[in-house]
Amino acid sequence: MRSTVYGGIRGPVLAVVIFLGGPTSPTTAHAASGPFDRQQAEAGHVIYNDHCAECHGPELAGALGASLVDAAFKAKWSGRPVSDLRDWIFSNMPPNAPGTLPDAQLDPIVAWILMKNGVAPGATPLSRANAGDVFPKE
Ligand code: HEC
Repeated sequence: MRSTVYGGIRGPVLAVVIFLGGPTSPTTAHAASGPFDRQQAEAGHVIYNDHCAECHGPELAGALGASLVDAAFKAKWSGRPVSDLRDWIFSNMPPNAPGTLPDAQLDPIVAWILMKNGVAPGATPLSRANAGDVFPKE
């Protein structure tokens, strides 16, 4: 048996509520964000700790290896396509096994490095497809 609950004024009232809650305000637009998302960067944190932290430090500030967050690092890599950094890491790191990091590890690690450099996460995970996007300057 069909209920009468959906008759009367229920329908129009519901429509108004949905309309008011629907559109996103333009003021929520982000400043320059990077070609990665937060979930990917957080996964990259774990992979970084396994493969990179012993030489670059748990906070990326450097140890045996260079700092990946200081002014020199930003000056060198920001303002350029993320793919420059991504390709360099693939070809050179880790030093005892260059050219071995699969994309499934490389992309999250690069996302984590970007986030630690103050780049805001965006909506799309980093991959070969969008790695040509610029590593935004702060
Ligand atoms: C055994 C130690 C060691 C490990 C492990 C290691 N690195 Fe390095 N890394 C170095 C050294 C030493 C340098 C500096 C030499 C050079 O630039 O060629 C360096 C340089 C770098 C640079 C360039 C920094 C700059 O200023 O341009 C990046 C980026 C980097 N490493 C990322 C990584 C990532 C990501 C990992 C993990 C996948 C990693 N490294 C693992 C030792 C290491």
